[in-house]
Amino acid sequence: MSTSSRLSPLTRSRVWRSIFRHGWPDNPLDRSLVTTSNIFLHLHPVKVSRKSIRWSYSFGLGIIAAISFGILLVTGVLLMFYYVPSVELAHLTMKEIQFAVPLGQFTRNMHRWSAHLMVLVVVLHMARVFYTGGYKPPREFNWVIGVTLLLLTLGGSFTGYLLPWDQLSFWAITVGTNIAGYAPLIGPQINQLLLGGVEVGQPTLLRFYTLHIAVLPVITVLVISVHVWRVRKDGGLAVNDAAAAGEVGSSTVSKIDEVNEDG
Ligand code: HEM
Repeated sequence: MSTSSRLSPLTRSRVWRSIFRHGWPDNPLDRSLVTTSNIFLHLHPVKVSRKSIRWSYSFGLGIIAAISFGILLVTGVLLMFYYVPSVELAHLTMKEIQFAVPLGQFTRNMHRWSAHLMVLVVVLHMARVFYTGGYKPPREFNWVIGVTLLLLTLGGSFTGYLLPWDQLSFWAITVGTNIAGYAPLIGPQINQLLLGGVEVGQPTLLRFYTLHIAVLPVITVLVISVHVWRVRKDGGLAVNDAAAAGEVGSSTVSKIDEVNEDG
């Protein structure tokens, strides 16, 4: 008696049918439906080669970047309950978070270390994609989206740096905005736009805060969604291409079949 017939009372039940829109995945059609009807599995193409899902191929760096971004969102929202973006209160509320708020120090450190981790991991992810030729057609557009994500990640770090409002952040942003001011043609305008005046002050803090907690995270969520969707639409990771184009011998193709057989 096959597994599917043994489980058919379950897979035909009303509860099962209300959750899953497919039978037991022991045939190609139901295996495909498992992927396409599940939002999380749907992130992958229906067929992938074994090599592309090996840990040592991508080191999961894109996923680690996405997870660290998720941690930043959660801890960032928690910090927002206490932090006040005013020059009189910013530093005080940071110290309050550190020393008076339950788990405040932990939340702040999680936010800080996740930010460092995200920058590091995004750079490593970019290097991995370059090394495995993931930027080549048809993925040029996703590479450009990736570069946008790199800039958004660095933008998040830069704007967050001012928020503690201590000497380090004040002078770091003074130097950073001065550097931006030296950009050709539009340098002074960028400098003015970031500072909201002639030097780092209350308008700067408010601008950086708004960029940090609203503008950049919202854009980043949207761009990450497009990025991950594109990975799927481009047929998974670059390693699949040769098999898809039928350019290689049976070994790669049979690996794809193996995955199918394993479900
Ligand atoms: C917030 C930052 C980023 C996130 C969350 C992210 C997420 C991901 C994920 C989940 C994947 C699937 C495979 C994997 O885990 O490696 C992926 C693939 C890819 N990423 Fe990123 N990524 C980011 C930044 C970048 C950057 C900076 C670049 C390049 C400039 C880039 C270019 C690509 C390309 C071209 C692929 C397809 C790779 C292939 O076919 O081998 N991504 N990304």
